[in-house]
Amino acid sequence: AYTAEPFVPGSGGIEALREAAAGCRGCPLHRDATQTVFGAGNVHARVMLLGEQPGDQEDRQGAPFVGPAGKVLTRALDEAGIEPGDTYVTNAVKHFKFELVPERGKRRIHKAPSLREMTACRPWLEAELRLVDPEIIVALGATAGKALLGSSFRVTKQRGMLLPFPGHEERGECLLATIHPSAVLRADDREAVYAGLVSDLRIAARALG
Ligand code: URA
Ligand code: SF4
Repeated sequence: AYTAEPFVPGSGGIEALREAAAGCRGCPLHRDATQTVFGAGNVHARVMLLGEQPGDQEDRQGAPFVGPAGKVLTRALDEAGIEPGDTYVTNAVKHFKFELVPERGKRRIHKAPSLREMTACRPWLEAELRLVDPEIIVALGATAGKALLGSSFRVTKQRGMLLPFPGHEERGECLLATIHPSAVLRADDREAVYAGLVSDLRIAARALG
């Protein structure tokens, strides 16, 4: 089975993880992508934000949520009252998966990661969770939700409420799911969809006190 496991160092901090992840060959996604996009932000953050996988901009720049979806996320966090400095941002899958679309000038179109790829990449997320040990993890969209809660997760049913975080309940750590910020960009009624994202994030902000 595909797995990142043999690439994850047994000790060391975030820099050791980041360096090792740069050389991960745990699944085939590393072959076509530019680079590994590891998590970024405050390793002592109380809030961890989990996306799906890097997009085109993230793949080029090597950092998560630096493209259009990232702009939406940054604005929504600010409006919800979550300090950017109190967050660590990462993705369920660390390499960009895409399809080249010749009729659109060879544009690289995002493809959803498979369960196999998500499972392969999971050891990196586990290592990040051990290091950051957040009080709240925010799942951005269906893929992140499934990565944390299993395949029965449904954004529409479970968004906007504080849920126990499976396997991480000892200190009352919780999980909050919401839509993916890119859903705002795709929506016809952007304002309403964006307002929903902010109101979900406010639940997380309130839980932090
Ligand atoms: N979408 C994601 O899920 N993650 C990113 O880093 C960028 C876009
Ligand atoms: Fe490794 Fe994850 Fe990249 Fe696959 S997607 S090669 S498991 S870092």
